[in-house]
Amino acid sequence: MFRLDEETAADWWEVEGLYDLCFAPGREALSSYRLRDGIEPVAGLSLTARDPQDILAGAIRHWPVRVGGDPVLLLGPVAVHPTHQGEGLGGLLIREGLARAAALGWARVMLVGDRPYYARFGFEVLPGVEMPPPTNPERVLGAELVPRAWDGVSGPVRRWS
Ligand SMILES: CC(C)(COP(=O)(O)OP(=O)(O)OC[C@H]1O[C@@H](n2cnc3c(N)ncnc32)[C@H](O)[C@@H]1OP(=O)(O)O)[C@@H](O)C(=O)NCCC(=O)NCCS
Repeated sequence: MFRLDEETAADWWEVEGLYDLCFAPGREALSSYRLRDGIEPVAGLSLTARDPQDILAGAIRHWPVRVGGDPVLLLGPVAVHPTHQGEGLGGLLIREGLARAAALGWARVMLVGDRPYYARFGFEVLPGVEMPPPTNPERVLGAELVPRAWDGVSGPVRRWS
């Protein structure tokens, strides 16, 4: 029902429009955006989902960050158009992103989001990982793509460069 593709340069503003629609105004003021400013999303891990009429229904991007010097994949933003929410598309995008990330050699993934949603994909609270304030620490979540990949990885989340 949905076609997943790697996002192209031509998709960029359409995806931005979807994020503007799905997130509260001022989304770019969030601390996670300071980790993304001026840094390219990870190639191969930005995906679009289009319906049979080619209308954008969902999208996901990932950025590289560092925690205590270790490379970490920052999942997000991920969003599904309100007319398609609850149809499993968010899960499809997240699972596909995680599979592609593992294939590219990423060992650990983090995000800022609702644990009740992301627990189904293996995300747990990361008690030792600090996002820039004012992030609620209960929303700082991580998943491993390689067993024990988060062991010993803690500290402030920093920009990739
Ligand atoms: C969050 C989002 C990406 C999920 O995509 P989706 O395609 O609607 O989700 P799925 O169909 O894969 O999963 C639906 C299930 O997740 C649950 N769910 C969705 N968002 C949730 C949340 N924030 N907290 C807890 N559960 C949530 C639904 O209740 C539903 O539960 P069910 O399976 O028991 O019926 C989408 O709702 C969205 O774009 N929301 C607005 C933007 C946003 O909040 N993005 C995430 C930022 S952290």
